[in-house]
Amino acid sequence: MPGPSNPGPWPKDVGVVAMEVYFPSQYVDQAELEIFDKVSTGKYTIGLGQAKMGFCSDREDINSLCLTVVQKLIEKNDLSYNDIGRLEVGTETIIDKSKSTKTVLMQLFESSGNYSVEGIDTTNACFGGTSALFNAVNWIESSSWDGRYALVVAGDIAVYATGNARCTGGAGAVAMLIGSEAPLVFDRGVRSIYMQHAYDFYKPNMDSEYPVVDGKLSVKCYLHALDKCYQAYTEKATQTGIKGKEDNLINSSDAFVFHSPYCKLVQKSFARIFLNDFLQEPSPDFSGRYAGLESLRNLKLEESYFDRDAEKALMAASNSLFTLKTKPSLLLANQVGNMYTPSVYGGLASYLLSASPSELVGHRIVLFSYGSGLASAMFSIKITKDLGPKLNKLLENLSNISKNLQNRVKVSPEEFDKTMKLREETHNRAPYTPVGSTEGLFPGTWFLTEVDSMHRRKYDRVPLVQIPNGNLQQTGDVK
Ligand code: ACO
Repeated sequence: MPGPSNPGPWPKDVGVVAMEVYFPSQYVDQAELEIFDKVSTGKYTIGLGQAKMGFCSDREDINSLCLTVVQKLIEKNDLSYNDIGRLEVGTETIIDKSKSTKTVLMQLFESSGNYSVEGIDTTNACFGGTSALFNAVNWIESSSWDGRYALVVAGDIAVYATGNARCTGGAGAVAMLIGSEAPLVFDRGVRSIYMQHAYDFYKPNMDSEYPVVDGKLSVKCYLHALDKCYQAYTEKATQTGIKGKEDNLINSSDAFVFHSPYCKLVQKSFARIFLNDFLQEPSPDFSGRYAGLESLRNLKLEESYFDRDAEKALMAASNSLFTLKTKPSLLLANQVGNMYTPSVYGGLASYLLSASPSELVGHRIVLFSYGSGLASAMFSIKITKDLGPKLNKLLENLSNISKNLQNRVKVSPEEFDKTMKLREETHNRAPYTPVGSTEGLFPGTWFLTEVDSMHRRKYDRVPLVQIPNGNLQQTGDVK
C-alpha cells in the first residue's frame, strides 16, 4: 500500500482507505434460543429478524477485540505503525474508568518506536465509533494534520441480562484506516446531527456489563432521531447538489445503511425514510410508488412510531426499495447481532461484500448512526469512480468475512447461558485467570490470559496460520 499523502491546505477525497472486521468465532442460534427462552417460535428469527448471535467467553474483552482488529488491519495492508498519526477507539464496553483502550493498543506500536499518536477513547452507547470517525476526519481536514493516516476502531461486547433484550446482543470490532485520496470518500457539507437527553438505554451500574434498558422507549428514540437526521441530511443534500431539488433522497442514493439493534428495526427504519419522502412529495403517485398510502397523507411523524397499520403499509410499499438499497447491508447484523459501536460499519462492510467491485463503483451510501442517551448522525460515502488498486484491496480484505461466518462454532443456548453467568460472576474480578477455551478462536485473535491483583490485564495471540511470506506467525508479547 502506498504511504500517506503529504499534508496540504485541503486534503483531497478524505475517507476510508482500508477496513477490517472482527467478530467472535462462536455463536448461538436464535431459533434454538427461542426454545430455550420459552418464547413463541419466530419471535427472534422473524419478529426481530435475527439468525445468529456472536458472543465472547471470558477470554475476550474490549482490549483484546481491539488488539485483534488493529493488528489484522496493519498486517493485511502491509502498513507500518509509523504510518499512523491518530488512533481513536469508540466503545461503550468500559472495563476501566480511567485508562483508555487506545493506550492498551499503543503496545502494538512499541517496536516501531512511534509514540506520537493523537486520539483517545470516545463513549456514548453505540455512537462512540462514529464520533471517533468524525474526529479522525476532522483531524485530517485540520491544521493539526501531519500527513499520516488516522485509525478508527469501533468495538463492543453487547450483552443483556436475561429477559426480552438478551437476544439482541452481539460482539465485534471494526477498524477503519482514514486518509486522503481514499476509495470510500466522505461527502462534505452534509453531515447531520441530532442529540437529545433520554434515558432509553444506559449503564449506571459499574459492577455489571448490562445496561438498564427501556426497550420501547429506545425504539421510539431511534426512530425520532432518524426522522430528524434524515430531514437535516435531505436539506443539506439539496443545498450541496448531491440530490436534485425535485428528486427525493431515496432515489438519488444507492444504499442506506443503518445502525442495527436488530434487522427488523432496520426494515422499519427504511419504511420510515420512505414515509418522510412521501410526506414531502408535493404530488405523490398513488397509482405507482405510493399505491395504497392515500390514508397516510396527513400522518403526523410524532404520532406514528407505534402505529402498526401505518408501519405495515409503509413496509409493504417500500419493500422492493428496501431489498435493493438496504437489505444487502444486513449480513453481519443478521449473523452476529448488534455489535453496538461497530454495527453501522459492519453494515457498510456487508454492503460492500454484496456486489462485485465494478457494480459498486460510483455508488453513494447514506449511513445512519444511533447511540442511546442519545446521539445520532446521518452522513454519506461515495465510492470512488475508478476501480483502482486501493478499492480492489479494500474489498479483497473484506472477502474473508463470509468464510469466517461459516467457520464459526455453534454453541448451545445452555452453554451460552453458562458463559453469560460466568462473565457476570467474574466481571471486574482481580486477580482472575480466565477459564474459557482458546481452541476455537480464529487465527490472529488476541485473548486474555490473566488479570493480576492490581487489575493489570495480560494478553496473548493465537498464531496466524500462514502469513503472505509463507512463515508461521509467532504469538505476540503484549502484556
Ligand atoms: N413470530 C413472528 N413475530 C413475532 C412472534 C412470533 N412468534 N412473536 C413476536 N413477534 C414480533 C412482534 O410482533 C414484534 O414485532 P413488531 O414490533 O413488528 O410488532 C417483534 O416480534 C418483537 O416482539 P415484542 O413483543 O415487541 O418484543 P419485546 O418487547 O419482548 O422485545 C425489544 C423487543 C424491546 C426490542 C427488546 O429486545 C429490547 O429491549 N432490545 C434492546 C433494546 C434495543 O435494541 N433498542 C433499539 C435501539 S437502541 C440500541 O441500539 C441498543
